[in-house]
Amino acid sequence: MKEVYTINDLTSRALLDAGADKPARLAVIGHPVAHSASPKLHQAALNAAGINVRYVRIDIEAGQVGECFKRMRALGFIGCNVTVPHKLEAMEFCEVDPAAARLGAVNTISFGETATRGFNTDGPGFESAIQDDFNLLLNTRNVAILGAGGGAGKAITTQCCHAGARKLLLVNRTREKLQPLIDHLKNLKPDMEIIGITFDDPSLAAHCLGCDLIVNTSSVGLKPGDPSILPKTCLRKEHLVYDTIYQPPVTPLLAAANALGCRTANGLSMLIHQGALAFQRWYPGSEPLAVMRAAMAHLIAG
Ligand code: ATR
Repeated sequence: MKEVYTINDLTSRALLDAGADKPARLAVIGHPVAHSASPKLHQAALNAAGINVRYVRIDIEAGQVGECFKRMRALGFIGCNVTVPHKLEAMEFCEVDPAAARLGAVNTISFGETATRGFNTDGPGFESAIQDDFNLLLNTRNVAILGAGGGAGKAITTQCCHAGARKLLLVNRTREKLQPLIDHLKNLKPDMEIIGITFDDPSLAAHCLGCDLIVNTSSVGLKPGDPSILPKTCLRKEHLVYDTIYQPPVTPLLAAANALGCRTANGLSMLIHQGALAFQRWYPGSEPLAVMRAAMAHLIAG
């Protein structure tokens, strides 16, 4: 059994399942993929439900997604998760669910009898996480998205738009990435108030203070020594602050917010919810959330 498989292992069951007690029929494809938490989440849910399936990691290069799906179908895979950098390329090789098309990426594939279908559970996973952590519905809220210009930013801003948030404040280091995102969101919701600024805009604090929910979708906070993406002057204790990063469990942004007395949560809840929603695509009617939470308990902030 390998920790990480490649496309070359997708040629025969004998190769793929050598030394394993269960057939690999679910996977996460990405590059790199060795760090992915998805196998832990999904294997726990499979085991708890008594399903005789192994969930594996497959590292594939850009340009190999179509061939990978073809081989997975031939080997009888049920589906897969798609992670960075393949979430766009995957859209070319499946029937894309309309909600995933709006989000502009797929992260969950289901190999049906006749069709390969693609879904996105990142956006809905974020919405469920916010409900769970803060008991908050996104509608009627003013939401600030920090680092809105990346892939996570697009999924989360689109979800906020779809869920009927009142106002979106998009903050990004690179100004050029703001307008295409604003155009995309305006196209979905022409009446929505959307403000796009960079972190060095003098009105940053005033705009942030006018929001209810602050969400970091950037990678700032992942690396040791990273600063808080937002200065303290942009935070007030009534803010709900969500960081999509879950390792470290308390990023500098969350530490600053905690010090002010804000309610905070990290991206572990989004990871778990997007995983549970993907699992339910493969196994409709299943309830994997509690088992997935337990499987990730070791990552909860200490
Ligand atoms: P992707 O999600 O598309 O892979 P990424 O490179 O991980 O993108 O970046 C995600 C977000 O983090 C982007 O909004 C990025 O800002 P830029 O659009 O200006 O690149 C943001 N980001 C990364 N490092 C940053 C930093 N040091 N300061 C501020 N924002 C940063």
